[in-house]
Amino acid sequence: MEKWLLWTLLLITFSRTMALTENHEEENKERQLLPTQSLYKDLHRKVFLFPASSADSYVTLSPLKNTELQNFTVCLWTYTELTRGYSVFSYATQASTNEILLFRDSVGQYSLTVGSEEVTFQVQEPSFTPINICATWASASGVAEIWVDGIPLVRKVLKQGYTLSANAMIILGQDQDSYGGGFDINQSFVGEIGNVYMWDYVVPFHEGKTDCSQANVLNWKKMKYEKMGHVIMVPQLRD
Ligand SMILES: *[C@@H]1O[C@H](CO)[C@@H](O)[C@H](O)[C@H]1NC(C)=O
Ligand SMILES: *[C@@H]1O[C@H](CO)[C@@H](O)[C@H](O)[C@H]1NC(C)=O
Repeated sequence: MEKWLLWTLLLITFSRTMALTENHEEENKERQLLPTQSLYKDLHRKVFLFPASSADSYVTLSPLKNTELQNFTVCLWTYTELTRGYSVFSYATQASTNEILLFRDSVGQYSLTVGSEEVTFQVQEPSFTPINICATWASASGVAEIWVDGIPLVRKVLKQGYTLSANAMIILGQDQDSYGGGFDINQSFVGEIGNVYMWDYVVPFHEGKTDCSQANVLNWKKMKYEKMGHVIMVPQLRD
């Protein structure tokens, strides 16, 4: 728990320092990648509130890059009272609607699906407290990690050698059973989600410092999103 706090603090300090030291070349590259920069918002200290189960409330997130992936890390903050299963993060491509799916099966069990293959992770979850969850996967080894509040769960191996297709549809609040649709009310998220970050590489959490400002696929401080149905953006009240 303490380690996790330190991690968060480091992360904040780092993102400030990085913002100052980032060279102009990087900035120019970024501008070319983001021609419609005004649509990208800094969601720092904000979260999406999903007030009720539904099959039509969700948020789509536009990735900063639409390339194929051989490695990834995704992190989110969730705060929920749900005991049933729900989708945490749904990343679909034309090749597979479960290209990446992070799912909370039940209290104490998460599953990670990559390219339609699923592995499960057991965790002792504290009830009714926010959770910081990160998932990583590396094609070369197939190794998948899930970190809950800074603690690594028992690693699993899947889809060694696989490449995730480009042009993902990324959705919070619902599980996609088709590209951008096929939602099931009984897998919808109810509660609060924020701090969504995704990298196209495996972040070495064990090395202790994580720089969220470097998140190059999804970045909560540079986010383009679309809300559908009943979803409200509110200030984050808890860490
Ligand atoms: C994925 O990670 C491995 C190991 O770090 C690296 O060798 C490989 O180049 C990475 N693939 C891509 C597409 O970045
Ligand atoms: C959702 O779950 C409820 C209660 O278990 C069930 O009655 C209903 O048929 C389910 N709906 C769908 C779309 O699966």
